[in-house]
Amino acid sequence: MTNFWKSNFPSLTSSEHVYLDSASTSQIPEVVINATCNYMREGHGNPGRGMHEFSDKAVALIEQCRHQVAQLLNASSQQIILTKSATESINFVASQFSQKLDKSHSIIVSELEHHANLLPWQKICQLTGAKLHLLKVSPKGELDLSNLENYLSDNCQLIAITQCSNVTGYQPDLKKLMKLAQKHQVPVLVDGAQAIPHQSIDIKALDCDYYVFSGHKLYAPGGVGILYCKNTSQLAPLLLGGGIVDKVTPYEYQLTSNIQKFEAGSPNMPAIVGLSAAITYINQVGFETIHNIEKQLVNDLTQQLINTELREYFSIISHPESRNIVSISSKQFHSHDIATILASQKIAVRAGHHCAQPLINALGLKHCVRVSLGLYNTHSDIQKLTSGLKQVAKVLL
Ligand code: ALA
Repeated sequence: MTNFWKSNFPSLTSSEHVYLDSASTSQIPEVVINATCNYMREGHGNPGRGMHEFSDKAVALIEQCRHQVAQLLNASSQQIILTKSATESINFVASQFSQKLDKSHSIIVSELEHHANLLPWQKICQLTGAKLHLLKVSPKGELDLSNLENYLSDNCQLIAITQCSNVTGYQPDLKKLMKLAQKHQVPVLVDGAQAIPHQSIDIKALDCDYYVFSGHKLYAPGGVGILYCKNTSQLAPLLLGGGIVDKVTPYEYQLTSNIQKFEAGSPNMPAIVGLSAAITYINQVGFETIHNIEKQLVNDLTQQLINTELREYFSIISHPESRNIVSISSKQFHSHDIATILASQKIAVRAGHHCAQPLINALGLKHCVRVSLGLYNTHSDIQKLTSGLKQVAKVLL
């Protein structure tokens, strides 16, 4: 069975590469490449800084992107802040707490987190003396919420939690977590970087206070991220500089009242235009189609790993309900050796600790190999991967 959507991705149709590293960054469809190139070809301007057409066009394109992101999330445009990355978005939120916390406060994170949603909170707690509470995972990698109410009662100021693990594809029960957080009136930041390329998000239903993701995992170029903020009235900008003020004197500044006050500095216009085009493209494909493609391939690979000789060398450590990730570990072979041999066959996977060392340790591992799928993958990719893994066993045994 062919996958029509693969033909939209020049990097995959013009070469023999088998790309199974979409959780790291996705390939870019032709329509996004064209939109980005056309923008640069037809006139690049700095939004809000010129009286000319190119500048006006840049303003309109930024606002179009903000509007499309808002629609994607079922939010309002005035709740969408454009940043450089999901990492910057999380650091933005963390910066709000540097002056507000002291020893009497606490923050809750989980063992599932990518370092991007852990290190900023470690730093804030180190700076302020606030406690960092860690929600643990079970040996199966599922989140243990049994301590949540205790931690929430410890003058907790925020929960920072992933929507989907970048190592196992596991999705914690955010409904339950939100319910308890709201009971204690504690705001919640959700790291949606690994979830949003694979499923539709309704921020009103999720009802979190902050939601972050990056464009480059969502079929857009790198360099643009999103921070959704339910209520921006108390938010202070992360960065200060051009494009955010009504008035500046040598000793004082007065910020503009609109959302642009959070976006100091010249924006990455090609990436922003790319994100708009990527959202248009994803809306055309539809999340149901994306899910059907990815789920079938996850099942296919899982069956191959369980029912063939591969089971002698590789164990699946990803979650059974993972939508797009199959991670494996091997007692016999190092993950880096596996990934290197696969790479020599033009098969791209990620190996190592995946910037999630606490989770890798909690699962009793030192490293693993992660296969992560995008809407362009095919059964042939899975066949090539399983042949490649058999080759790994031959070479390394
Ligand atoms: N966060 C990306 C990953 O999990 C880079 O690979």
